[in-house]
Amino acid sequence: MLRDDALKGKTIVITGGGTGLGRAMGTYFLTLGANLVITSRKTDVLQKAAAEMEQETGGKVLAVTCDVRDYEQVENVLAEALKAFGKVDGLLNNAAGNFISPTERLSANAFSSIIDIVLKGSVNCTLAFGKHWIKEKQKASVLNIVTTYAFTGSAYVVPSACAKGGVLAMTRSLAVEWGKYGIRTNAIAPGPFPTKGAWERLLPGDLAEKFDFKNRVPLKRVGEHQELANLAAFLISDFAGYINGEVISIDGGEWLQGAGQFNGLEAIPNEMWDQFEAMTRSAKGS
Ligand code: HXC
Ligand code: NAP
Repeated sequence: MLRDDALKGKTIVITGGGTGLGRAMGTYFLTLGANLVITSRKTDVLQKAAAEMEQETGGKVLAVTCDVRDYEQVENVLAEALKAFGKVDGLLNNAAGNFISPTERLSANAFSSIIDIVLKGSVNCTLAFGKHWIKEKQKASVLNIVTTYAFTGSAYVVPSACAKGGVLAMTRSLAVEWGKYGIRTNAIAPGPFPTKGAWERLLPGDLAEKFDFKNRVPLKRVGEHQELANLAAFLISDFAGYINGEVISIDGGEWLQGAGQFNGLEAIPNEMWDQFEAMTRSAKGS
């Protein structure tokens, strides 16, 4: 979507960048000329992904093992990125944990484990990198991956909804507070984009068939990874230099379909509309 050198000379750090959507966005950033740092807990997965991404794009990828729940490990990512590339221009908070469950079945630790990865992890990374950028007087861009239920809420993924809601609040708050330092903070709220990580934890067994996301989306399809990558590349790039504090949904209209009071009338067959029209017209004088 963007021109080939849109991210040339930029270094971007992606948490959870070795799998799923993080990897797809990272691969496109490389294609556009960026240097990449990818982090997650599993060193073997990261290193394999880094090698494959380099081969695919000809770009440079540094893999640094990091549990985003641990602030010291996050500071180490920053140090390693600076050592390898001299500066960091963008942070993509993408790492997440999630699973479906009735809330009353959760232990306190289960709830905390999601809050710690998603909210505390995004806070840790944003704080460590933000302090650095402010000290160095460097302009930068933070992009947070949330979900549409960060603003609608959702049953059965309550820890994730709470955590993503917190990340959205951080996005809007820091957009204002750190705008004066030239740090832009934005978020993307993706709808359904099939990945192994998400589908295994959110649609186990035959749930993927029974609860087919396609039926929830006005465009009648799930998202393609490249579609998300296009939006992320734009938002993190200088082409979006005046966009700050926004959350952009990319969900084919999914959350709005669930929200509109009469949207369910979609189920009414065309031939019945003649009947309904006659009935509603005859109500004129009553
Ligand atoms: C109930 C569960 C559970 C489950 C774990 N726990 N799975 N409780 N139902 N299915 C409980 C455990 O018993 C434990 O509590 C606590 O949660 C922590 O579990 P651990 O396995 O020790 O945690 P950890 O090793 O840190 O793993 C974190 C994880 C795991 C979130 C549980 O799934 C993970 O590593 N996920 C990373 C990738 C991921 O989730 N990707 C999907 C993102 S998709 P106790 O009390 O027993 O100690 C996404 C998309 C949203 O966010 C929108 C899609 C359309
Ligand atoms: P995914 O492949 O499971 O990605 C999650 C990544 O987070 C993994 O690489 C994982 O790597 C990393 N991670 C988890 N815990 C971590 C920790 N403590 N420290 C560092 N890294 C950690 O799933 P995905 O679908 O691509 O999700 C990517 C993002 O998109 C998430 O923010 C998710 O909420 C969001 N999202 C996805 C969808 C969708 O439809 N797929 C929809 C809305 C939002 P390790 O296990 O190696 O640590």
